[in-house]
Amino acid sequence: MRKKVSIVGAGNVGATAAHWIAAKELADVVLIDVVEGTPQGKALDLLQAMPIEKRDVSIVGTNDYADTANSDIVVITAGIPRKPGMSRDDLLNTNFNIMSDVVGKVVAHSPNCIIIVVSNPLDAMAQTAFKKAGFPRERVIGMAGVLDSARFRTFIAEELQVSVENVTAFVLGGHGDTMVPLSRYSTMAGIPITELIAPDRLKELETRTANGGAEIVKHLKTGSAFYAPSAAAVEMVEAILKDKKKILPCAAYLQGEYGISGLYVGVPCKLGAKGLEQIIEIKLTADEQAALQKSADSVKELCTVIGVA
Ligand code: NAI
Ligand code: 2OP
Repeated sequence: MRKKVSIVGAGNVGATAAHWIAAKELADVVLIDVVEGTPQGKALDLLQAMPIEKRDVSIVGTNDYADTANSDIVVITAGIPRKPGMSRDDLLNTNFNIMSDVVGKVVAHSPNCIIIVVSNPLDAMAQTAFKKAGFPRERVIGMAGVLDSARFRTFIAEELQVSVENVTAFVLGGHGDTMVPLSRYSTMAGIPITELIAPDRLKELETRTANGGAEIVKHLKTGSAFYAPSAAAVEMVEAILKDKKKILPCAAYLQGEYGISGLYVGVPCKLGAKGLEQIIEIKLTADEQAALQKSADSVKELCTVIGVA
């Protein structure tokens, strides 16, 4: 039997995630939204691409959570996105109410699923989903680090004029202005980029990474990035469905790791069939640890405002 992935929110990120999942033939997909017609229309359109793409998956659009029953994974993208001039944090109260409502319905129909949270502000929304779902931390994971490190990898590959496949990069911390691109642990074909790119230039690439979301909002004007974010969420879906034991930077609920407790923060995680299977602790310099702590503090501030700290 094929696996089942439900995606809540049939907007830009949600519908494009459905597209990647179907194109990779990873699972049957249910696309659900509050708006009537949107998930149905997008799902049917995507389904009709399958004969062309030679992929056998079912794709259903719905407004009824009964159709999401017994999902293996639920990706939550419901919420409002950023507009120019808005930070991710400006979405806090609206998306908190949406997340609280959605998680209750998801859990009622798929009590054994793994939840991947995408809605912003990401770390606070992951914390909300975790508290509302009552699941173990292994089954509520936030997507941000895969996107942020993909942005960093793109900029490094462009700078060094090499294949993106040769570049690995890590970005830790919350998905906000305080995120921590870790150049010291980023490589080109195994060679640390700190040996290949001058410190000042590296700083510029790190800053561009931290502002990566805003750069795209500025171009689009009416919303935020969705191709790379949806691809990032689907990399996590694939790692779980295929039990790959893949190390990816994800927002995870920390219980003492990196000296942080009771909070979702981006760290290197091993993803497999059980969801979050391990948090990898790497040695940080004092400056890196301080930057991570600062980032965690800003996540905590948001969580306190919405009462989920
Ligand atoms: P969008 O506006 O295109 O889609 C959001 C969808 O959610 C809409 O179709 C809307 O009708 C739906 N929705 C609203 N309330 C709902 C509810 N209660 N139940 C079900 N569906 C509901 O926005 P987009 O671009 O898809 O972004 C979605 C979210 O993901 C935003 O919060 C955005 O900031 C966030 N995001 C996070 C990223 C990350 O790295 N974690 C990257 C990109 C976006
Ligand atoms: C991004 O980083 C808006 O969080 C979204 O593109």
